[in-house]
Amino acid sequence: MIRKKLIAGNWKMNKTSGEAADLVKDIVAEVGRSNDVDVVVCPPFTSLESVGKALDGSSIKLGAQNMHPERSGAYTGEVSAEMLRSLFASYVILGHSERRTYFGDTDAFVNQKVTAALKAELKPILCVGETLAEREAGSTLKVVQTQLEAGLEGVTKEQATSVVIAYEPVWAIGTGKVATTEQAQEVHAFIRDLLGKLFTPAVAGKMRILYGGSMKPSNAPELLAQTDIDGGLIGGAALEARSFVDLINAAA
Ligand code: G3H
Repeated sequence: MIRKKLIAGNWKMNKTSGEAADLVKDIVAEVGRSNDVDVVVCPPFTSLESVGKALDGSSIKLGAQNMHPERSGAYTGEVSAEMLRSLFASYVILGHSERRTYFGDTDAFVNQKVTAALKAELKPILCVGETLAEREAGSTLKVVQTQLEAGLEGVTKEQATSVVIAYEPVWAIGTGKVATTEQAQEVHAFIRDLLGKLFTPAVAGKMRILYGGSMKPSNAPELLAQTDIDGGLIGGAALEARSFVDLINAAA
């Protein structure tokens, strides 16, 4: 397999700085030196520093959950790619459905963030996925195509291999309703084919496509065995060391 699996934990708005450091220490103690799987933890901005320190010397990478596309300026409450880099973040989640739904992130704004992240040498984890109404209307693939084409506009094929795609059906996020392996693999294969058209099939073959949405140790082995599922973007199950470590082991 040319693509190394990647397990990323999105801690969302959970954990104080101290709690976050404690959690990551437990994860590091078990899998901090494993190189079989790429592992990323994405705490809230307020915990990036404490988690970064706790990760020092381990193979686990640090990621953020969002960023602003500008380098600096009058954007109250926002954080730039350079600020994340200064705390040794190497990944950033962009276009998560919670950002799109609650904070109005549009495809165009997500695209500005993706290109700014790449310029700053941060690896974007670009999230796409349909709502339940869109799936029931039969428009899943169209929705995913629109989000991907817009989100990746202006990204070169040289940059594309630094981009990670996360397919997260909105109806599966935090609901306990996981997509079936067939549903997930169908969309992942579609995404890979589309990436081949946007870049080249060789580039698409190197890009990682994660599944996200109620992934846990019990359903991960089957999902991760699918040809085009290269890892997971984990929410709830990333908030507890045991389940996150079990997910990492399931990907190894
Ligand atoms: O970013 C992670 C996803 O939103 C999945 O969250 O694993 O809690 O369903 P979940």
